[in-house]
Amino acid sequence: MDSIVLTIVPSCSRPEAALHFAQLQFEAWGHLYPQSSIEQSTFDLRAELSPTTDLALLRMAWFALDVEGQPLGVIMLIGDGEVEPNDAIELPGPWLAGLIVDPRFRRQGVASALINFVTKTARDIGFERLRLVTEHEVSFYERRGWVREREVTLNSVPNAVMFTTLTL
Ligand SMILES: CC(C)(COP(=O)(O)OP(=O)(O)OC[C@H]1O[C@@H](n2cnc3c(N)ncnc32)[C@H](O)[C@@H]1OP(=O)(O)O)[C@@H](O)C(=O)NCCC(=O)NCCS
Repeated sequence: MDSIVLTIVPSCSRPEAALHFAQLQFEAWGHLYPQSSIEQSTFDLRAELSPTTDLALLRMAWFALDVEGQPLGVIMLIGDGEVEPNDAIELPGPWLAGLIVDPRFRRQGVASALINFVTKTARDIGFERLRLVTEHEVSFYERRGWVREREVTLNSVPNAVMFTTLTL
């Protein structure tokens, strides 16, 4: 298996790519988050990164670039807002979120590299556990060591919450 050479950069450094990935995110998850919009996601991907342990403020995003600087995929690390308020009380962040690889560049290890990057970043910030919520990709994350924690509904659609432990 050939591995692709990637660079991971803050998404705000490539504002021209934000709309494309915001559209992909909205296509994938718009039905789960009725308050979401392409405009808000585009704004978020253009925002400056701010590493913090304050879950109310944590909202970071990165693109994976190929050797020519083309963005292939996106990932986010966010403090809250992934599950509905009743579940959020028992399921605090931080959350790995917004992971999308452009369909033209899948099955080359882009998502795996982004997941590894965000896992390390969350650990470096000082978090001990990282969660995510997924509708269709439980097995994909289980193969990468994530553990299924709970079922939740997002806009009445069943989803799984999963976690990984970040201790050294
Ligand atoms: C799920 C998703 C993020 C995976 O992205 P990806 O970049 O294709 O993921 P990877 O390439 O890291 O891994 C996918 C598979 O390709 C395989 N692969 C990786 N590099 C490869 C290569 N060079 N050649 C062949 N296969 C390869 C991996 O082994 C992996 O299979 P596995 O899960 O059985 O181990 C992508 O399909 C996507 O964006 N889906 C829509 C949104 C979504 O579901 N997001 C995540 C859920 S919340």
